[in-house]
Amino acid sequence: MGTLKVSNIDAVYASSKANEKVVLHNISFEIGEGEFFVVVGPSGSGKTTLLNLVAGFQFPAKGRIELDGVEVNGPSAERGVVFQQDALLPWLTVIQNVAFGLQLKGVDKQTREFTAKNILNLVGLKGFEAHHIWELSGGMKQRVNLARAIVVDPQLLLMDEPFGALDAFTKEQMQVLVLKVWHETGKQILLITHDIEEAIFMATKLLLLTSSPGKVAQILHLDFGKRLIAGENVRQIKADPQFIEIREKVLEHFFSEQVI
Ligand SMILES: Nc1ncnc2c1ncn2[C@@H]1O[C@H](COP(=O)(O)OP(=O)(O)OP(=O)(O)O)[C@@H](O)[C@H]1O
Ligand SMILES: [Mg+2]
Repeated sequence: MGTLKVSNIDAVYASSKANEKVVLHNISFEIGEGEFFVVVGPSGSGKTTLLNLVAGFQFPAKGRIELDGVEVNGPSAERGVVFQQDALLPWLTVIQNVAFGLQLKGVDKQTREFTAKNILNLVGLKGFEAHHIWELSGGMKQRVNLARAIVVDPQLLLMDEPFGALDAFTKEQMQVLVLKVWHETGKQILLITHDIEEAIFMATKLLLLTSSPGKVAQILHLDFGKRLIAGENVRQIKADPQFIEIREKVLEHFFSEQVI
């Protein structure tokens, strides 16, 4: 396991040479081993663009992205993406959806079913292996998406607003689940969100983006997720005066930018 290193990147969209729009400017950060890295920023600040760059779906106009010293030059199995709900294959069962990535890798049937089953246990879907996707709730579909990303054992998990479509209660359950999965698998995570409470709760490192073009406003070091892993209750953590103070400071930061 190593480090994801993003150095001085710019992202530019251009409908023509005369019509270039810089959406990310001079972004640098590192995601070390076991780090839960969260990027929070207003709509249009370039969060999805940043995730696409790290995934290798797009390329920076300037700067460099490296994983373990190797430049990112396209998608790779080391960087697993948790897609949104519509990425599931509706004609397959839950376990077939999860095992699909292993099939593509040429893993034999017995091993892929065993591995997929273990991962489904990990994401709390024991007993749902034979269900079809249309029989699942939104929260359960997101668990399947998470399982699909983890099953091929990537070093870095990339998630873009994974809980955006969920109700507040399910969202919190998913936040807790992802923290547990992070702890149990030891993976590095890059999570993108515009939910400030979620960002503060989950991050070991939190990058605040400015509004368009997105620039690094600040990187905070936090440990609320680790407190959950250590046994503290989620509601207790989110109601802790220290949590509320940080949440209000971050909100103040965004409001003073007048971007929300
Ligand atoms: N393919 C594209 N071509 C041109 N412009 C784009 C493209 N994708 C995004 N943009 C523009 O780049 C900026 C950043 O978009 P991006 O989707 O990365 O923001 P975001 O922070 O993810 O926003 P949201 O919170 O709404 O998802 C926006 O102004 C958007 O209109
Ligand atoms: Mg986005």
